[in-house]
This record gives sequence, C-alpha cells and structure tokens, in this order.
Amino acid sequence: DSMHRELQALLATANKAEAEISRKDFDGFKKLFHRFLQVKGPAVDWAKISRPPEDSIRPYERIRTEGLPDNISASLNKLAVVKLNGGLGTSMGCKGPKSLISVRSENTFLDLTVQQIEHLNKTFNADVPLVLMNSFNTDEDTKKILQKYKHHRVKIHTFNQSRYPRINKDSLLPIAKDMATGGEVGEAWYPPGHGDIYASFANCGLLDKLLAEGKEYVFVSNIDNLGATVDLFILHHLMSQPAERRCEFIMEVTDKTRADVKGGTLIQYEDHLRLLEIAQVPKAHVDEFKSVTKFKIFNTNNLWISLPAIKRLQEENAMDLEIIVNPKTLDGGLNVIQLETAVGAAIKSFNNAMGVNVPRSRFLPVKTSSDLLLVMSNLYSMDAGSLTMSKRREFPSTPHVKLGGSFTKVQEFLSRFENIPDMLELDHLTVSGDVTFGKNVSLKGTVIIIANHGDRIDIPAGAMLENKIVSGNLRI
Ligand code: UTP
Repeated sequence: DSMHRELQALLATANKAEAEISRKDFDGFKKLFHRFLQVKGPAVDWAKISRPPEDSIRPYERIRTEGLPDNISASLNKLAVVKLNGGLGTSMGCKGPKSLISVRSENTFLDLTVQQIEHLNKTFNADVPLVLMNSFNTDEDTKKILQKYKHHRVKIHTFNQSRYPRINKDSLLPIAKDMATGGEVGEAWYPPGHGDIYASFANCGLLDKLLAEGKEYVFVSNIDNLGATVDLFILHHLMSQPAERRCEFIMEVTDKTRADVKGGTLIQYEDHLRLLEIAQVPKAHVDEFKSVTKFKIFNTNNLWISLPAIKRLQEENAMDLEIIVNPKTLDGGLNVIQLETAVGAAIKSFNNAMGVNVPRSRFLPVKTSSDLLLVMSNLYSMDAGSLTMSKRREFPSTPHVKLGGSFTKVQEFLSRFENIPDMLELDHLTVSGDVTFGKNVSLKGTVIIIANHGDRIDIPAGAMLENKIVSGNLRI
C-alpha cells in the first residue's frame, strides 16, 4: 500500500507527455514488486531438477542436415530481428549506448548488425526488419545515429523498455523524489533487464504491427554478441514444423568450457524446460552449477520466439519470469535493490520449446577490452558485417587473453596499440601494467608481459614474441 501511494505521488509529478508511459511502467513494476514480496525461499527446489530429455536439446548439426528449401526468402519475410540495446558502455569505460562502440574497422556493433541484415535482404530479396529494444539510457543517442542508415535496405524500428524505480534496500520504497531524470536523480531509475521485452513490445504496439505484417518469429539476441547472425537452418526448421507441433521457442545453447561459469543453463523442471541462472542456485550447489560435468551447456541468449505465442501469453498474463534481485550501492553510499528479469526465463511458458546446441562461433560477445582485442585482430575476417575465424588460424579455439586494468577503458586500450598485433598463432596472452605495443608486433604461443608499478614496457615495432615472458628488464 505504501508502495502504491509513493508511486501515485511520483506519477503526479510527471509531465503530460510522459504520464501515460509512466503509468504503464508502474503497472508492470507493481506486478513485479508484488511477486517479489510473495516469493519465499529459493526459486528452485534442487531435488526436482533433472537433465533435459534427450530430444529437447538438439545438436545444431541435426538441424543443419534438414537443409534449406528454394524459397527461404518466404521464411525470411516472416522474421524480424530484435537486438537488445538497453545497455550502456560503462564497463568498457565508454559513455552512451554500448552498441555505438567501434569494434571492427571503425564499425560499431550497430553498424555490423545493419550490414548483416542488409546483406541478408539483398541476397534473398527479402524484407527482414531490425527492431531495437532501447532503454531510457540509450534511446536518444541511438535514434540520432539511425539517420545514418536511412538509405540502407533494412527497415529499423525502435521501442523503449520500461523505466522502473530503484528501491531502498531497507524501506523497500522508491528513492526517487519525482519523475525527472538526469543528474543525481538519474540513479533513481533503471531498465529492468531484458525480460522486460515481452511487456514493452506488446505495450508499444509493435508486436501487433509486426503480426499484422505477417511476421511469425523474432530472432532476439544481445547486440554485443557478434556471432548472433540470422541462421537460415534454424529459421527453416521452425517454419517447416507442422502447426500442431509448432515450436514456439528455441534457445541457442553452446558447450560450456571451464571459463564459462556465469551463463544460465537449461534444466528439466516440473515437465518443462527451464532456464537456471546462477542467482537462483542455492549456495550449497553453486560449485556443482559451475562445473562442466553436470551442466554441460549454457544459454547464448540467441532466442527464436513465436510472435503469436508472445501475444497469447501476454494476453493471458501467463509469463511469470523469475525475479533477479540485483543489489547496488549508489555513489552516495545508499544501498538499493533493483528487480530484474531475463528474456530466456520465459522458455518455460512456451509450447514445444527446445534448445539447439550451436557451435561456439554463434557466441562471440564483446564484454571486455580483452574480447575487443580478439575481434579487432587478424584472428577474424569480416564479410558483410559478419566475423568468422580466419582460415589462416590452425586451431579452432580462440586464444585466452587477459589484459590488465590499464586496458579497461576503450580509449586507453586503443592508445596502447599502434596497430593490433598479429595473433594468428597465439594461445595465451597476459598483459599487466603500463605496456604499449609498436606497429606490426607478432604474438605467438604463450606471451606474458608484466610491467611492475612505476615501470613501463614498450614492445618495439616489428617485434616477434613467441613463448616469452617479458617483465621489467628481465627477458626470458
Ligand atoms: P548485459 O551486458 O547486461 O548482460 O546485457 P550479460 O551480463 O552479458 O548477460 P545476460 O544476457 O544479461 O545474462 C546483455 C544484453 O541485453 C541488453 C544489453 O544491451 C545487452 O545487449 N539489455 C540488458 C537490455 O536491453 N536491457 C536491460 O535491461 C539489460
């Protein structure tokens, strides 16, 4: 009740233009908050978890052998591509939307996405639109940039996800004093995770619009996953199912390595496939969750979802996505929580949902400058906005790269390389401290470069480092 009163008071401060949207946002928030108060204990009963049945996670190879029909463009015309674009570039030291960071030959994540879809539309004479789910953090900057693609052969739609109030950890009441954003009060609001897509997509009218245009599926992915291209085999698999067995949801999963401890996994739970995230795992089972033996795959967040099914479930109010409670400490030291949901958690609500175990190449996220170094290098070649591992690399795996704190911010990272070293034969690279790279450096095998505090190491132009440790004046 006090939450309700606080929200009403906040709404009263909204200007006319935003009042309607804020009311919808608050309706969604109230539902989420209500469920949060009701939830007691852990989200899953560990004893009830079992391995998904044999047929529910299919190898990609099997989908591929189904082949492609002549008229794949008919299927493409029933598809829309949705990119999750609510996130900022903060963790890479950038201001503004993450999707506007340059990642390869001056192209941003968004540029690459547009190129990929345009290429698809041209090649197959199709009309696949791009839909961006923005947040209040990214909407303005993204829309400004969209001008740039006016003459590209891809229709671009945007919609905004909700804006929810952060709540005080102790009082459980909003910390916002009024609806105005910017400045310090900017900290009072947050985008509630990508699970918000279902409600926002429906509320903004775009879901109905796409359905009216004859679209049947959306392919949803993180905009920072450069491997998330439209896969024609998966698309065809979906479109060729008989209506009564229509698969309404495909989650692309991929084999876990020991480095992938974070991603969610698919489990069988009460007769349904379900996404299990680390936040839902009881403490006693966290190590088991992280191991690669019991949970062999993880969610890439590349998802294929039926539009009529989203419509149905929204109308029935039948998607109760598990709540992720995200605690934060604001700059002033105030402890808040934000309630979030994940798009993949909806898998349990759809009919005939399944996982497809895809090659690792479909999961190429750029989260850190170490990831950035890899995708900028000659390990990859680029064609029509898609990156593929260079044929000149002899091993299929990517090198393990660990850049230290002085490389975290993209600007500083870039200033430390005259150009990107040759990494075709690299297995492992660790760099720490104040290190710079001259032009045309070549790195092979295992290379470790450590500049101690106060020292600086400049790798000279043309240097070839193979299985080397470089540290201070000591060279081995
Ligand atoms: P993150 O960068 O936050 O996710 O967002 P993550 O830690 O890799 O993993 P998951 O997928 O959340 O588990 C992933 C994508 O979702 C978008 C981001 O812009 C990014 O493309 N996102 C995230 C939103 O669009 N809205 C949100 O509220 C959160």
